Amino acid sequence: MKTIKRSWAEPYKIKMVELLKMNSSAQRKKAMKDAGYNTFLLKSDDVYIDLLTDSGTSAMSDHQWSGMMMGDEAYAGSRNFYNLERVAKEVYGYKYLIPTHQGRGAENILSKILIKKGDIIPGNMYFTTTRLHQELAGGKFEDIIIDSAHDPENEFPFKGNVDLNKLEKLIKKHGADKIPYISIATSVNMAGGQPISMKNLKELRALTKKHNILIIHDMTRVAENAFFIQQKEKGYEMRSVKEIVKEICSYTDGATMSAKKDALVNIGGFLTINDWNIYEEARNMVVVYEGLHTYGGLAGRDMEAMAIGIGESVSDDHIRARVGQVIYLGEKMLSYGIPIVKPIGGHGIFIDAKKFLPHISQDNFPAQTLAAEIYLDSGVRTMERGIVSAGRKTNGENYYPKLELVRFTIPRRVYTQAHMDVIAESTRSVFERKNKIKGMQMIYEPKYLRFFQARFEKIK
Ligand code: F0G
Repeated sequence: MKTIKRSWAEPYKIKMVELLKMNSSAQRKKAMKDAGYNTFLLKSDDVYIDLLTDSGTSAMSDHQWSGMMMGDEAYAGSRNFYNLERVAKEVYGYKYLIPTHQGRGAENILSKILIKKGDIIPGNMYFTTTRLHQELAGGKFEDIIIDSAHDPENEFPFKGNVDLNKLEKLIKKHGADKIPYISIATSVNMAGGQPISMKNLKELRALTKKHNILIIHDMTRVAENAFFIQQKEKGYEMRSVKEIVKEICSYTDGATMSAKKDALVNIGGFLTINDWNIYEEARNMVVVYEGLHTYGGLAGRDMEAMAIGIGESVSDDHIRARVGQVIYLGEKMLSYGIPIVKPIGGHGIFIDAKKFLPHISQDNFPAQTLAAEIYLDSGVRTMERGIVSAGRKTNGENYYPKLELVRFTIPRRVYTQAHMDVIAESTRSVFERKNKIKGMQMIYEPKYLRFFQARFEKIK
């Protein structure tokens, strides 16, 4: 299982294709200007290769599509809900499950139940929607990820790990009763898709047990994390990804899931938890915010596709090819001398925009600028993950994240190796003329999650 002797060829063949369109350079220029130099505001029709996100962009299998035809669209007690409940329990092991329309629906409900005003929620780096729900519920997020996670050059294989000393200091400072739970993501998105090790999780479990603090797992990309444990952590070489996923979950008390990523569906999510009282409260709240507790904002067919997708997501063949494709692109970028976050993560390549455009200050949005330039070059759409995404503190000041990144997120089972070549070549073209690129200024800023809708213009 460990030594990869052969290439990671896709464990599927293609049955249906969607034709791509390539705009002219002049068309791209107009489209980018109309979108306020924000790749979120581009029309998908104006995009050639779409690496904005791996969220909801997967290609479903023929099994999943046939599951869609088996939708039981009953308001209450849909057969598909029970299938989902059964599969999720078998694969992840948590006791109770509540479907939600997507990950942030689960985050909203969980944050409202567990967080009181003034609480502290430590976590291994923030995620945009997760932290915002914690703040809206009256809590304050504290980053307890190891320092090396903030250093794109550091090649430690488990940069998603928690610094237990940072956590102990927080517990001492605020008291365990001010910390309702620790928020732990597998494959830490904002750090570049970096995994947490099983050893670190076990130590975290022991420490939180001592203080009676829950661990809530953001399991959006748990299968990718499990693959890295299999490849890099001693003692797990011979274990299947499926076994490793279940072991990860066993050290935590519950999870929020955006099934739009690892679970290979275009929409869906859930909250899953071992504690009956939290479950009961969540069942009360889901009817207010999402829908009945047996559909949570989803159609029966969506739940069926999710149940099947969960099963496919933990297959060793699937995950090896999925991460293999990401690593292929990353190695190509490295061979061109492009500064990317190392080690290469699970769901995409993250360019270090501070290194790529060292002459642009963080206040002039180097990552936002670079994402716009890559689109202008080739129609490849990427995403800013730097100061724009980080947003403002509750007191109105900007967060200044150490990482100023452009994310090239690879949808699952969608693009080929030849697409990866074109993406790397386009990035190289931009890299060759980087000294001519100027920064931008923000001309419109929305109140929440500003990266989605902010508008920019080029500095003259
Ligand atoms: N947690 C993580 C780690 C995520 O990456 C996301 C979504 C969510 C929670 C929220 O889930 O979108 O289903 O409500 N990430 C997407 C991305 C949007 O592009 O990284 P959601």
